[in-house]
Amino acid sequence: MSEPANPWDVVRAWLPANGDPERPQMTLSTVTPAGEADARTVLLSEFGLEGFYFHTDAMSRKASHIVNNASVALTFLWPGFTKQLVVQGRAEIAPPAEATAAYRARSPYLQQLAWQNTFAFAQLPDEERHAAWKAFAEEHHGVFAQPDTWIGFLVRPTRMTFWRSDPEAASRRVEYRESSGGWTVAYLPG
Ligand SMILES: Cc1cc2nc3c(=O)[nH]c(=O)nc-3n(C[C@H](O)[C@H](O)[C@H](O)COP(=O)(O)O)c2cc1C
Repeated sequence: MSEPANPWDVVRAWLPANGDPERPQMTLSTVTPAGEADARTVLLSEFGLEGFYFHTDAMSRKASHIVNNASVALTFLWPGFTKQLVVQGRAEIAPPAEATAAYRARSPYLQQLAWQNTFAFAQLPDEERHAAWKAFAEEHHGVFAQPDTWIGFLVRPTRMTFWRSDPEAASRRVEYRESSGGWTVAYLPG
C-alpha cells in the first residue's frame, strides 16, 4: 500500500483549494461543560499545515464549549458514498488578521448574517425578521463591517482518518496520528 506519509498531501488532494468560493461543509463536534456531545454544520473557511479554520459568533454555544474544552472533531462527508474525513484535535482562537480575511471573503449575505443571527432576532416572527433584515441592509447600503462578535477558530489536528469506498472490496480507512512532530499511519477496518 502506498499512502502518503504526510496526511496534508491527502487533505490537499481531497478538499477544494482555499481560494475556491464553494466552501466545504463539515460537522463540528464539541463537548458541553456537562460532558455531553454537541454537533452542528459549519463552513471550512480555509486550511493550512497548522490546521483547519472555521468562523462563527463569539457568543454562540459552540464558542463557549471550546473555551471550556478545546477538544473537537470535524467530519467532512463527500456525496455519493465516496469519501469521509474525520479530524480530531484541539481548537484555539485564530489570529485576528486571519478572521478578518475570512470575513472579507464571505458573501454579503453571510456578512449580514453575522450581524443578525442573534438570540433577540431569533425570537421575532418571520414578517418582522424580513423587515428588520431589509432595513439593516438599506441602512448599511449593503456593506457590512466586521462585527465584534466575529471569531475564528483553528483546529490543530492530532488524528486524521480518511475513509474511501471501494466498490470491489471493503472500504479503506487510513488513520494518521500525530507523534512527536510527525505522523504514524495505521490501516483500520470500517
Ligand atoms: C450548510 C451550513 C453551513 C453553516 N455554516 C456555519 C458557519 O460557517 N459558522 C456558523 O457559526 N454557523 C454555521 N451554520 C449554522 C450552524 O450549523 C449552527 O446552527 C449555528 O452556528 C449555531 O450553532 P451552536 O448553537 O451550536 O453554536 C451553518 C449551517 C449550515 C446548515
